[in-house]
Amino acid sequence: MSKVVFLSVLLSLVVNLFSAWFVPQTASAATLRQAATARNFLIGSAGSYWRFTNDASYQNLLANEFNLVTPENEMKWVATEPNQGKFTFYAADQMVKYAQSKGMRIHGHTLVWHQGLPAWVQNGNFTRDQLIAIMKNHIQTVVSRYKGKVQEWDVVNEAIEHKGNGLRDNIFLRVIGPEYIALAFQFAHEADPDAILYYNDYSTEIWPLKSSTQYSLLQGLVASGVPVNGVGLQMHEYTDTAIPLGTYANELSLLGNLGLRVSITEYDASGIQPASKTPDVRASIQAQNYSNALSACLSVAACKSFTTWGLADPFSFQPTFVPLMRDASMNPKPAYNSVLNTLQTF
Ligand code: XIL
Repeated sequence: MSKVVFLSVLLSLVVNLFSAWFVPQTASAATLRQAATARNFLIGSAGSYWRFTNDASYQNLLANEFNLVTPENEMKWVATEPNQGKFTFYAADQMVKYAQSKGMRIHGHTLVWHQGLPAWVQNGNFTRDQLIAIMKNHIQTVVSRYKGKVQEWDVVNEAIEHKGNGLRDNIFLRVIGPEYIALAFQFAHEADPDAILYYNDYSTEIWPLKSSTQYSLLQGLVASGVPVNGVGLQMHEYTDTAIPLGTYANELSLLGNLGLRVSITEYDASGIQPASKTPDVRASIQAQNYSNALSACLSVAACKSFTTWGLADPFSFQPTFVPLMRDASMNPKPAYNSVLNTLQTF
């Protein structure tokens, strides 16, 4: 390189560096993550190691758009302890490594659930003491592995009967009794006293009986000193109309008033009779639902995060419902724009 060329390259480098530093940073946020981070809010998505292995564009999009990630299946019991006492953490470890490399917070999901549960737990004919010991070992092995890395956990998932009529009949209720819930929180807390521990369930924002059952359950746990810190509202919506902001806000503040942190943990919004509306109308109702739920969260101090259950429609657990913010080509839908706009302006 001649001296002249070298000097001109050097000069342009200096000019570029100076202008990058000097230009005022007024550009508006381009991604959900930037908009959420600017207001100190957590915007999340379910993400899956099994889906994103070898897919750099999925990995980058997820990290560009979200500052929180929930491993969709990798931390469930069937994934982490498929055989009794034989733990397999490869996929969960990859999720944690990925999230850490991208500076994302991790919402651990989930320790005790009637689904994603291996047959050996369901059909083992264990005594009460045995099942308590099995549950303790499972929870403590998983939580302590990720101590200081996974900041929050769905400890118990969907313990309430589908429509809210008491507790759900599952192997833990049958063998241990209702105390399995308090025990699960106690075990998780012993393994990581700093982790934020959630109870997580669905549809309480729209079904009054389920809302009151969940409220009583949590009120009882809090009153007896059980280490529960938060409640996750999944919010998988099935509707052809917009659910009002107030409906969402009522449920969020009800639980916030118990002194609990509240999070929207699995948001998506599906039409139930899609044929009755044009695609544009459906997309705009969906967008309204997303922004109403998010606005409600932003208006309730206890509500700390808004997570959608997947990056794009094909990755949804119900792909035919097209319930997410991006379409099959990964392009943003009106729901994406309404979420971005809500984060920027609400
Ligand atoms: C779903 C996953 O998205 C699917 O990939 C899996 O096959 C089944 O579980 N409520 C929950 C989530 O708490 O764990 C569920 O995730 C969706 C409903």
